Amino acid sequence: MARLVGGVGCSHVPAVGAAIDNGRTDEPYWAPYFAKLEPARDWMAEVAPDVCIVVYNDHASAFSLEVIPTFALGLADEFPPADEGYGPRPVPVVHGHPEMAWHVAESLILDEFDLTLVNEMPVDHGLTVPLSVMFGQPEAWPCKVIPLCVNVVQYPPPTGRRCYRLGQAIRRAVDAFGADERVVVLGTGGMSHQLQAERAGFVNVHFDTAFLDGLVADPEAIAGIPHVDYLREAGSEGIELVMWLVMRGALGPRVREVYRATHVPTSNTHNGLLILEET
Ligand SMILES: [Fe+2]
Repeated sequence: MARLVGGVGCSHVPAVGAAIDNGRTDEPYWAPYFAKLEPARDWMAEVAPDVCIVVYNDHASAFSLEVIPTFALGLADEFPPADEGYGPRPVPVVHGHPEMAWHVAESLILDEFDLTLVNEMPVDHGLTVPLSVMFGQPEAWPCKVIPLCVNVVQYPPPTGRRCYRLGQAIRRAVDAFGADERVVVLGTGGMSHQLQAERAGFVNVHFDTAFLDGLVADPEAIAGIPHVDYLREAGSEGIELVMWLVMRGALGPRVREVYRATHVPTSNTHNGLLILEET
């Protein structure tokens, strides 16, 4: 039987990917941030998942405004790194797990979560940066990946509670998968940041810290945060935090905080990394 062995919340800041790809991680700006990744990478190496379900958002790389799926699941054998305007990142191709992905698709849809099913999809920094954060620069990614794409780009995105319930449904799907796979769920994006207009560069460490505390101890309450509160308290792109609720929903009610690291700034964001295991 498949077994969920942990959950990771992780920012997916594109500049972090660029720093890794361009060999700049030792520079004074970046070194303090990258030093904080080591315990997370050690945990990941020890847990050694066979499969990561990566919950992320596409940034108009695979999908444009022509088609905006609320939840899209990747079923392919492989997913190439997307060209986001300056060529694809020099990272390995992401290998999927079609057998498990189709099982998850069937389980979720019969569980009344209506997914868009995707057979061909480039994956952008939303997915590849968290892999780089957790695995560094391997020749090949050490696990298979099932991409789950969430719309947080075009209003209206799903609610936090819908994302939390989706995570619970993913857990039921994982538990029912017959093969002996070790699974980690990654929820990516956030934390507070705003990329445009008068509040560009806005971060709110107080809100983010309370969000992380609540995500660990009282996720049902955090799931109730309305969209307007994310906008006001976490900036116009802070809504990406709802994807962390998918990860949290996949874990049981009680979790142990294995590791937390935050850093201000990376690019113009408050960067977060959280590792949880069930107790
Ligand atoms: Fe993003």
